[in-house]
Parts: sequence; C-alpha cells; structure tokens
Amino acid sequence: MRKKVSIVGSGNVGATAAHWIASKELADVVLIDIIEGVPQGKGLDLLEAMPIEKRDSYIIGTNDYADTANSDIVVITAGIPRKPGMSRDDLLNTNYKIMADVVGKVVKNSPNCILIIVSNPLDAMAQAAYKLSGFPRERVIGMAGVLDSARFRTFMADELKVSVENVTAFVLGGHGDTMVPLPRYSTVAGIPITELIAPDRLAQIVQRTRDGGAEIVKYLKTGSAYYAPSSATTEMVEAILKDKKKILPCAAYLDGEYGIKGLYVGVPVKLGAKGIEQIIQIKLTPEEQAALNKSADAVKELCGVIGV
Ligand code: NAI
Ligand code: 2OP
Repeated sequence: MRKKVSIVGSGNVGATAAHWIASKELADVVLIDIIEGVPQGKGLDLLEAMPIEKRDSYIIGTNDYADTANSDIVVITAGIPRKPGMSRDDLLNTNYKIMADVVGKVVKNSPNCILIIVSNPLDAMAQAAYKLSGFPRERVIGMAGVLDSARFRTFMADELKVSVENVTAFVLGGHGDTMVPLPRYSTVAGIPITELIAPDRLAQIVQRTRDGGAEIVKYLKTGSAYYAPSSATTEMVEAILKDKKKILPCAAYLDGEYGIKGLYVGVPVKLGAKGIEQIIQIKLTPEEQAALNKSADAVKELCGVIGV
C-alpha cells in the first residue's frame, strides 16, 4: 500500500515540501490549509505534473481533516513566517494558537502518525505539539538541524570549492540565534574542517550559518526561506518512510540526554520507521556543552511563555 503524508499549511514550505515528496514518489500527499481553494489549486497543479515527471504520487488539496485520515506522517507548517526585523521568537503566540488548533484535529484523524513540526519558533512549537498530541516522544520530531547543517555544508563547500556531497556537518541546539554549529564534527571527505579552514574564517562561516534564515528574509522581504527548509523536511520524511535508520540532527524531546530534561533541543538522532529510534549522544567539550545549555535555556524561556 502507498504511504500517505499530510502537510498542514499549504504555503511556501508546505507546498514546496509536497513538490519534493511527490517528485521523489515517496508517498501520496494531502495538502491542507484554512484558506479555501489554495490547497486544492496547488494540489491539482502538482498532480497534473506527475505524468511529465513519471511519478505516481497522488496529491490532493483540502480544508477537511477527514481527508488526512490514517496518514503515516503529518508535517505541520501552519503558521506565520517572519518578515524583516522579526525574530523567530516574535511568532510565538500566534503560532502557538495555530498549533493548538491544528494538532488535535491531526491526532483525531491520524492517531498513529509521526508528526514532523516545522512552524517557528521551532523547538517551542515541537514542545507544544508533543504536549498537545499526547504522542510518545519518538513520534514528534522538529525540523531545523537538517536545514541549519545544510546551510553550514553549503558555505563550507563554497569556501573550499568542493562538492557539497563531500561535506558533512552538525548543528545542534535550538533553531535560533543560539544554535550550536560544531566544526569539530564537520568534515570534508573525512578530514576535520578545522584542519582545512583557518579559525577566523571558520568563525565567520559559523556566524553566517546562525544568521542563515535572516539572510534569506532580508532578500525576500515578504517571508522566509522555503526551498531548503522543505528539502530538509523531505529528507526526514524519506528516512522515516524508507526506514533508513539515518542519523540526522533533529529537535527531539530530551529526557536527561546531554544533561537536559523535559525539553525539545536539536541533537543527532536515528530516524527510521518508528520515528526517533535513538538519540545519539556525542562527546562535547565543556565549551560546546555550555553553548548547548545556553541554547536550551533560550528554548525553555519560550516554552515558559506559552506554558508547555
Ligand atoms: P506561509 O505563510 O507561506 O504558509 C503558512 C500557511 O499556513 C498559510 O498558507 C496559512 O494559510 C496556513 N495556516 C495558518 N493557520 C492555519 C491553520 N490554523 N490551519 C491550517 N493552515 C494554517 O509560511 P511558510 O513560509 O510556509 O512558513 C511556515 C512556517 O514554517 C512559519 O512559521 C515559518 O517560520 C516556519 N519555518 C520553519 C523553518 C524551520 O527550519 N523549522 C524553516 C522555514 C520556515
Ligand atoms: C529559516 O531558518 C525561517 O526558520 C526559518 O529560514
């Protein structure tokens, strides 16, 4: 039987994720939104591309959660994106209200699904979805680290003029200004990046990674990034649907791992058919651990504001 992925929010990230998922023929896709007509129009448009793309993914758009019933994965992108001058945290209260509206309906129709949360501020929204859904932690996963690491990889590959395929990177912590890119665990064809790029230059690349979302917002003016975010989401969807056991940095509910308890923070996890199948604990230096703790404190503060 074909797999089914529903995407809540048919805006830039949601519709582009549908595009990537269908073009890789990973699953049938249901696009849902509160705006009438938009998911239906985008869904039909994408469906009509399938004969050209030679893909048999079936895509529909809807405003009715009954159409999302029994999804294997539900991706939540519903919410407002930031505009120039706004931080992700400025979206907190509005997007929490949207999350509260959406999660109950998703859970009622797909009680066994895996939730991938995309809406910002990411870690607090993942925590909200975890609490609102009542799902076990392995079935509520936040997307951020794959995107932040992809940005880090892009900038390193560009700096060294090597294939992006040769570059691996890890970015941990919350999806915000306090995120923790880890140069020590980032490599080019297995060679630590710290041996290839001078410390000053590497520090600039790390900062550009932290500001990666804002850099795009500054250009777009009316919204935020969506090609790389939806591609990152699709990598997570693929890892789960194909049970790949892939190690990816994702926001996960920590229960003592890394010394953090009761909070969503970005860490390396193993993604497979059950969702998060393992939280990978890597050894951090005292400085890296301190940066991760600072990032976790920032997430905790936001969770406190919305009481999750
Ligand atoms: P967008 O504005 O293009 O799309 C959002 C969609 O959500 C709209 O179509 C809107 O009608 C819909 N929506 C609002 N309330 C809804 C509800 N109650 N039920 C169903 N749909 C609802 O925004 P975009 O660019 O797609 O971004 C979506 C969210 O994802 C934003 O919060 C953004 O900050 C976040 N984001 C997170 C990233 C990450 O790394 N975690 C990366 C990129 C975006
Ligand atoms: C980004 O990093 C907006 O969080 C989103 O592009």
